[in-house]
Amino acid sequence: MPYADPVETVVSRTLKLEAGSPPATLSETQLLDTQRAFDSVAPDYDGPRGNNELIQRMRLTLWNSVSSEVPAGSRLLDLGCGTGIDAVEFARRGYQVVASDWSPRMVERTQARATAAGVQAQVAALHVGVHQLDRLEGGFDGIYSNFGPLNCAPDLGDVAVQCARLLQPGGKLVFSVIGRICPWEVGYYLFKRRIKRACVRAARGATAVGMNRHTIWTHYYLPREFYRTFAAHFTLNGYRAMSLFMPPPYLVEFYHRHQSACDRLGRLDDRFGALPGLRDMGDHFLIVMQRR
Ligand SMILES: C[S@@+](CC[C@H](N)C(=O)[O-])C[C@H]1O[C@@H](n2cnc3c(N)ncnc32)[C@H](O)[C@@H]1O
Repeated sequence: MPYADPVETVVSRTLKLEAGSPPATLSETQLLDTQRAFDSVAPDYDGPRGNNELIQRMRLTLWNSVSSEVPAGSRLLDLGCGTGIDAVEFARRGYQVVASDWSPRMVERTQARATAAGVQAQVAALHVGVHQLDRLEGGFDGIYSNFGPLNCAPDLGDVAVQCARLLQPGGKLVFSVIGRICPWEVGYYLFKRRIKRACVRAARGATAVGMNRHTIWTHYYLPREFYRTFAAHFTLNGYRAMSLFMPPPYLVEFYHRHQSACDRLGRLDDRFGALPGLRDMGDHFLIVMQRR
């Protein structure tokens, strides 16, 4: 996602179809752009691009949240599983996981990771996008999504309806979502005099974000905007900022240069990230909802 590469350019653009290409709706074309972008990074996604220390720190927050919300032994659905780091971790913790992703290369990585870890019986990796959830059978106890797959959903309202169908009553949603207000990002890009980049999260609707010379179509959300879409079927259990004081993961080199100061900032995230006002900001937010 956008955090993956600090040198990427954000482009604000209208969609152009190649002459002679078959007609496609805007969202179909956007979905394919996003798929190609993630396919292109799947081979090295477990390195600094997708799994550096700052990402791992946020990952732990989601792991602990899922573990405390959904009892081990339950059935989990991972939306946008990437290379399967979370799915394999939850399998090791005793869950049955259906891990889904829109990028076929990511799904292959998940399958390979589960096999290498010896948990292939606990992890089913499926090439299913969040816009195709009607293809899945229900009966899940929890659904999680880590690091912004839901920011790529063309229709978040449809995802909410499908999650309600797929979850048992009382089941939990635990999502980490890219937020709208990231003070570090605004400060960093204003300092670099990249004004457009500094303001990218203010955009409404699908925004083109560059990664690896491809485009990811991304929607940014405030936690309350996000929850509104789920409110008909889910109660809000809580939400918190992730990487508000700590720099966002694409500033990992800054983190390496100022590690002890940044670690202190990370402790501020842990202590104050759920406070009203602060919880509406950060690189991502973690939101927990419950099926009515
Ligand atoms: C930033 S990665 C996060 C991957 C993984 N959750 C993790 O924690 O490492 C975002 C993932 O969302 C997936 N994705 C993007 N659009 C999607 C869609 N429409 N449906 C399902 N997955 C999607 C990408 O293929 C990619 O694997």
